[in-house]
Amino acid sequence: MTESRTLWWDDALGGIRYIEQTLLPSEYTIIDCTSVDRLATAIRRLEIRGAPALGVAGAFGVALAARSCAAKTFPEFCALVEKDAALLRSTRPTAINLAWGIDRVMARMIRKKDIVSAQKAALDEAEQIAREDTDCCHAIGKHGALLLPDTCTVLTHCNAGALACSSWGTALGVIRSAIQAKKKVNVISCETRPLLQGARLTAWELSRDAIPVTVITDSMAAHFMRAGTIDAVVVGADRITEDAVFNKIGTYMHAICARHHEIPFYVAAPISTFDRIKRESDVIIEERGRDEVTTMGNRVFVPPEAAVKNPAFDATPMELVTAIITENGIIRPPFAMDDVFPDKD
Ligand code: MRU
Repeated sequence: MTESRTLWWDDALGGIRYIEQTLLPSEYTIIDCTSVDRLATAIRRLEIRGAPALGVAGAFGVALAARSCAAKTFPEFCALVEKDAALLRSTRPTAINLAWGIDRVMARMIRKKDIVSAQKAALDEAEQIAREDTDCCHAIGKHGALLLPDTCTVLTHCNAGALACSSWGTALGVIRSAIQAKKKVNVISCETRPLLQGARLTAWELSRDAIPVTVITDSMAAHFMRAGTIDAVVVGADRITEDAVFNKIGTYMHAICARHHEIPFYVAAPISTFDRIKRESDVIIEERGRDEVTTMGNRVFVPPEAAVKNPAFDATPMELVTAIITENGIIRPPFAMDDVFPDKD
């Protein structure tokens, strides 16, 4: 099975290299990124996307900001890097991992006393976050694989795969690990309008690993659940509050349909995706541009007079979730943040 990286630090470049995800599956291109502004654009354009990958990108982004900072004194250095960190934090508001990765590197960096050791600490911490992300995905995969029957068809939405993480994936990590454990898993990947992460990215990365995948439009999911084709739904998450799971728009619809058809609905996510403080109503759902809905290629198929809405995520209430699969094990309802952070007050 492919263990390729989605984004990484390149010493010779002095910057970040990443797979440009908007071009997949027709073009596989690696981008060299040596400026924070370019990284911010890449995140906004979804060249890099998926909650854990955003955490890693944010972390490397702070390392990049630290490295390119021209400050003479340590306080000035900290202030300038924080400015870049704020820019990166503002690029996408819903996935908590982005701010989590940025804040973790900032916290390690500002504990230093001089610029050179702060630059080194920033890069060390970012590399550590990238390694931990891969380890978390493998642990999530191992725990989640136990939940799947020996032969099954799993429906997933968007892309919670290697491309959404450092490597391996969360929801797709569960599927990869189940296959490694000799289970026979077929995947149904919802195309995921409007940006087609399911059709373009999930189908691409599973096909590369010779994992059987069938793409359907989002509106076909209920039909296949009713037909008895689907044994489990496994999705990723962008943020998990005590009362809801935020994930790609359309996830909530699958959760309702799964409950109606008595199909387990699993969420696979690292602890870094949990928000201990906010409730559903406090979370900002990113609203994206009109063109993503109205246009495909060069063709516009919505009349200009029609209004358009484009929320990128939705919230699934916790009561529709069968279990959450984390690197530390399986969490079943009733869900409480204390189960996730037992040693924190
Ligand atoms: O807008 P995107 O492509 O960044 O949305 C990604 C998702 O919704 C994923 O399902 C989520 O980040 C989990 S990725 C392991």
